[in-house]
Amino acid sequence: MSGRSVSAQETNKAIEHKVKHLLSQMTLEEKVGQMTQIDITVVGALDGQHAENPIDPAKLEDALLNRHVGSILNTPFAPDNKAQPIETWRKMMKTIQDASSKTRLKIPVIYGIDAIHGATYTQNSVLFPQAINMAATFNSELAFKEGEITAREVRASGQQWNFSTVMDIGRQPLWPRLWETFGEDVHLATVMGTSYIKGHQGDDFSAADKLPTCLKHYVGYSYPLNGKDRTPAWIGERTLREYFLPTFEAGVKAGSPTVMVNSAEVDGIPGHANHHYLTTILRGEMGFKGFTVSDWEDIKRLYTRDRLAASPKEAVKIAVMAGIDMSMVPFDFSFYDLLVELVKSGEVPMSRINEAVSRILTVKYQAGLFDPKPLLPIEGNFATAEAIETNRQAARESIVLAKNDNNILPLKKDANILVAGPTANLLSVMNGGWTITWQGDTESLYPQEKLTVLEAIQKKATGKVTYVGGDSFDAPIDIQKVVNEAKNNDVILLSLGEKPYTETVGNIESLNLDQAQVDLANAAIATGKPVVLLTLGGRPRIITSIAERVSGVVLGFLPGMEGGEAFADILYGDYNPNGKLPISYPRNTNGITPYDYKPIESFEQNTYNPLYPFGHGLSYTSFETSGLKVEKDKVNMGKNVNVTVNVKNTGALKGKEAVLLYINDVAASVTRPNKQLKAFKKVELAPGQTESLSFTLTPHDLSFIGVNLKRIVEPGDFKVMVGKETVGFTVTK
Ligand code: BGC
Repeated sequence: MSGRSVSAQETNKAIEHKVKHLLSQMTLEEKVGQMTQIDITVVGALDGQHAENPIDPAKLEDALLNRHVGSILNTPFAPDNKAQPIETWRKMMKTIQDASSKTRLKIPVIYGIDAIHGATYTQNSVLFPQAINMAATFNSELAFKEGEITAREVRASGQQWNFSTVMDIGRQPLWPRLWETFGEDVHLATVMGTSYIKGHQGDDFSAADKLPTCLKHYVGYSYPLNGKDRTPAWIGERTLREYFLPTFEAGVKAGSPTVMVNSAEVDGIPGHANHHYLTTILRGEMGFKGFTVSDWEDIKRLYTRDRLAASPKEAVKIAVMAGIDMSMVPFDFSFYDLLVELVKSGEVPMSRINEAVSRILTVKYQAGLFDPKPLLPIEGNFATAEAIETNRQAARESIVLAKNDNNILPLKKDANILVAGPTANLLSVMNGGWTITWQGDTESLYPQEKLTVLEAIQKKATGKVTYVGGDSFDAPIDIQKVVNEAKNNDVILLSLGEKPYTETVGNIESLNLDQAQVDLANAAIATGKPVVLLTLGGRPRIITSIAERVSGVVLGFLPGMEGGEAFADILYGDYNPNGKLPISYPRNTNGITPYDYKPIESFEQNTYNPLYPFGHGLSYTSFETSGLKVEKDKVNMGKNVNVTVNVKNTGALKGKEAVLLYINDVAASVTRPNKQLKAFKKVELAPGQTESLSFTLTPHDLSFIGVNLKRIVEPGDFKVMVGKETVGFTVTK
C-alpha cells in the first residue's frame, strides 16, 4: 500500500469522525438547510445596486441564519445572469463565507457554478472548445489540461464546485446538448471525461487550485426519443448498462464526488424519482459515496410537470426517498419547509436525512471548505498566456478537415478571398451555450480582443479579404453581392452553421440548415469559383448537397474562444489538422445510425451511410497503419490481449494522427456492434517516420451486458481492427 493511500485513509477516517460529531449537534432545520440549494438571485441586491458586490446582506442572512441554506449557485442575476469580473466574484464569495461563519455551527456554503468549458461566468476566462470538440482531439492530455486550467480559474474566482463534466453520451444529434457531450462513443467519452476530472481534481481537491466536479446528468438524459431536450428516453436496462452507465461509473471511479440527476425521464420514470437508478445502481452497484444534487427545479416538476406526485410535498418525499441528497430548488425555500414537515410527520425518516447530510458535509470537508485556504492570486492563475496557448492548441486539434479535393487547402496567403456567411464574424457561434451567459448568444459581451474566423483570416492574409455577411447571425446576407464579389476573388470561404443555444431553447424539428444559408451556398457554388465550406455549431446540420459540390469542408463545431485563430492556422497551413469526428455526421436528417451499429442495421436494405463516419478527419500529410498483430491467437478467459500496430507518416509534412483500435465479438448471446472503439493513441510523426504502438485489451474491453443484465465475456472469436487491417483471436474457457 502506498504512503498516499494510507494518509488518504487517515483523512477519510478523520473526516468521518468530524461529520458524525457535527451531525450530532445539528437540529432538523439545520440538516434540511444543508440539503437546500438556492439561486444567487434569492440573496441578490436589486438590479443595478452594489454592482461591485451584488449581494443583499439582509437576504443572505435570512437564507443562511433562518433557513440554514447549504449551497448557492449561478451567476447574478435572473433574468440576465451574466459573467462578472473576477474581483466581483471574489468579493461575493468572501461575503458569503463571512456570513456562513456567523451561523451557529459555522458550516460553510458550497458555491456551485456551470464552468462547462472554462470559467463560464468569470469575465475574460479561458474558454475552451466545448466537449464535442475536445472529443474530436482524441487527445486525453488536452482534456486533462482543460480540467486543470478550468479548476484553477474557477478557484481564483472563489467558487467551490463545478457542475461539469457531462458524462452523457451523444447519440441523438437533434438533442440541443449534443455538443456538451464527448460524442457518440462510450470509450472515447470515458477517456476524455475521466482525464478532465483528474486534471480538475488532482489527487486532493482541497488544494488551492482544485475543486470537485459533478457528473451529469445521471442517467439516460442524452437520448430523448424525439430529440427535444427534457423529453422521454426509451432505454431498456441492458442498453442503459451497456451505453449510458459506463461513463458515469468511470467518473465515480475517477473520484468525482457529486452527481447531478437527469431532468427528464427514462422508461416512464422521471430521473428524480428513480430509486433503482439513484440508489440501487448508483450506490449499491457503483459504490458512489458522494452526494446527488437535483437539476434545476426538478423536484417541483415531479408535481408541476410530470404529475407523478399529487402535491409539491409528495414530490419532495418521492425525490428524497429515491435518493436525491440536495435540491436545486432554486428560487424559494419550499423544499426546506416541506421537508421539515415531512420529517416531523414521520413520512421521511430521520435516517434518510442524516445520510444525505453526512454525504454533503463529507464533500465540504474533502473540498477543504471548513478550513478555507486564501484565494489564489489572480496574477499567474487566471487567463495566463500559457493557458491561452493550451486553449489554442486544443482548438486546432478539435477542428476536422473533412474534405480537401485537389488540395484546395491550405490556402496561399496571397490569395484573394471572399468570406461569406452568418458564422464568419461572430465569437458566439464558436463558443455556444454556457459562454458568458447561459445561452451564450450575447455577442456584445464577448471579449473584443478575441478574433472571429474572419478577423483571424484578415490577420494572416497578405492577399485581399472581402467579407459579405451581417453583424448578427440572423442579419440577411446580400447574395447578389456575394455573386458580384466572387469574380474578383480566387476562392470563396463559406461560413455556415448554427447560432448558440442550450437546453430546451435549442430544440429543433429538423437537422436541415435554414433555407437562407442553403440559398447562399447555392449561389456561391454557382459562381464557379472554388468554395471551401466551414461549419460552426453544436450539431451536425445537414450539409450533404453543399459538401458534395464544394472543394473543401472544414467542420468546426464549437472550438471556443481561440477558434478563429485555430481556423486561420489550419486554413493557411500554419497548423496541420488532425481532429477526427467523435460522432457520425449524418448524410440526411433521419440518417442517425451510430458507427457502432448492430448487424441488423447493415442487413439487406439497411446501411450505415453517414456523410462522414465516426473517426473521419484528414490531414495535409498522410498516414498508414500496418503490421497489426495480436500477441496470441488463443487467449484464456480473464487474461489481457496485447496488440501492436505500426503507424507511418507517408506524406511530406509533420503531423499528428490518432490511431483508433476497434473490436468485434463475432458471435454472442446478445447482438454485438459491428465494431466498438476500445483504445486510441495520438502520435506526432515527421515525414517518413514510423512508430510502433502497443495496446492492451482487458477482459472488460471484451465484455458486454448479457441476457441476465450482468456483464460477461463469452468464449469465442474476436476481431481487432485498425485502419484497413483486421486480425483475430479466440477467447477460450
Ligand atoms: C442544467 C444543468 C445545470 C443547471 C444549473 C440546468 O438547467 O440542466 O446542466 O448544471 O441548470 O445551472
